[in-house]
Amino acid sequence: MTVSWDTFERYRQKGLDARRAGQWDSARVYLLEAARAMVELSKSAAGEELREGRRQMAARLLELAKDCENATRENRRAPAARRSGSGNGGSSNSPASESEGEQSAQQWIVREKPSLRFDDVAGLEDVKEDIRLKMIYPFEHADLAEKFGIRPGGGVLMYGPPGTGKTMLAKATAGEIEATFFRISPADVLSKWVGEAEQNIKKLFDAAANEPRSIIFIDEIEALVPARRDEGSSVMQRVVPQILQGVEGFDKKAGRPILLMGATNVPWQLDPAMLRPGRFDEKVYIPLPDLPARRKMLEIYLSKRPLADHLDLDAFAEKLEGYSGADIKYLCDRSATVPFLQSVATGEEGEITSQILADVLNDTQRSVTPEMLKRFAEWGKAAATA
Ligand SMILES: Nc1ncnc2c1ncn2[C@@H]1O[C@H](COP(=O)(O)OP(=O)(O)OP(=O)(O)O)[C@@H](O)[C@H]1O
Ligand SMILES: [Mg+2]
Repeated sequence: MTVSWDTFERYRQKGLDARRAGQWDSARVYLLEAARAMVELSKSAAGEELREGRRQMAARLLELAKDCENATRENRRAPAARRSGSGNGGSSNSPASESEGEQSAQQWIVREKPSLRFDDVAGLEDVKEDIRLKMIYPFEHADLAEKFGIRPGGGVLMYGPPGTGKTMLAKATAGEIEATFFRISPADVLSKWVGEAEQNIKKLFDAAANEPRSIIFIDEIEALVPARRDEGSSVMQRVVPQILQGVEGFDKKAGRPILLMGATNVPWQLDPAMLRPGRFDEKVYIPLPDLPARRKMLEIYLSKRPLADHLDLDAFAEKLEGYSGADIKYLCDRSATVPFLQSVATGEEGEITSQILADVLNDTQRSVTPEMLKRFAEWGKAAATA
């Protein structure tokens, strides 16, 4: 069977679109199809390096598909979170009263109740403490916070190389305080909000108003800024300040806190206006995992799988210097595939051995380069003094 890039790209795009719209079931199916197409494409690639690259891409798509499955399950577990409360012009879930506008709002407002906790995120201890201070303690000790004049919230911007846990940490923050998690995708804003940005932001805040606690998360926030100034996408430049204003105003009147989090792995593409005080004033660098964090990842991603005796995970964690969290998760998954397939083929249950780990490590590249790290360090320094 030959698969064209077109086929792959179509499935991938549909999968990502459905995922953004929170249509988890169809997202999962499309992403699985895209992964399958990519596996086919990998077979016809010239050269081992290219083949491996494509296999990795297929593995990431499978990962995304699995995420969609988890999201379906989480949403089923928390049906109450989808129901909006009474009053104040917010959207109602009863189909009879749903106007067309509200229906479309229901489509793009993706609400989740993440079950992730800080403990599921390896390392990043000082970042977690930062978030606790700013976002969690003021919730948990509302009386004290009020007495001392401490306001929760504001905007926290996480930046750092890809695959270091930014998205995960945003979800885990929501999980920690049992907040409803509203994820805004810039792609949605770009494609569907044109001319309606103001109304849409209002709808978003109405929806958040019906939840006891909310986190609004803008992933890949750099996409809200046009790549070139002369493209003049003024809609985009209005959206973020408006959301930030919304957060501020809302916080004061409703007494139901909303926190704003953003993430990017290309912070230098951001509009400096976003970083002004009162906006994303808190900028947090999310680095590559240090040794204890890498060790903890091995614990998280390997310990429930069949392991050979005397496997020295401490030593393996040492060797993973420079690998991102996503790289390490991928390494663990691949290391499990080998003995799994062997077990299927032979009928004898195998296990993950140090040889398998070494082999997989040997042909997995670090996805973050030293040049990238240098660029982050320079940007961080400039942003701190700006
Ligand atoms: N600190 C971590 N602890 C545990 N797992 C991690 C960690 N960082 C990354 N991972 C693994 O890598 C996957 C990707 O991480 P995540 O999507 O949060 O990265 P990101 O920083 O948002 O990347 P990007 O900048 O590309 O969006 C996670 O789903 C998880 O499996
Ligand atoms: Mg991310």
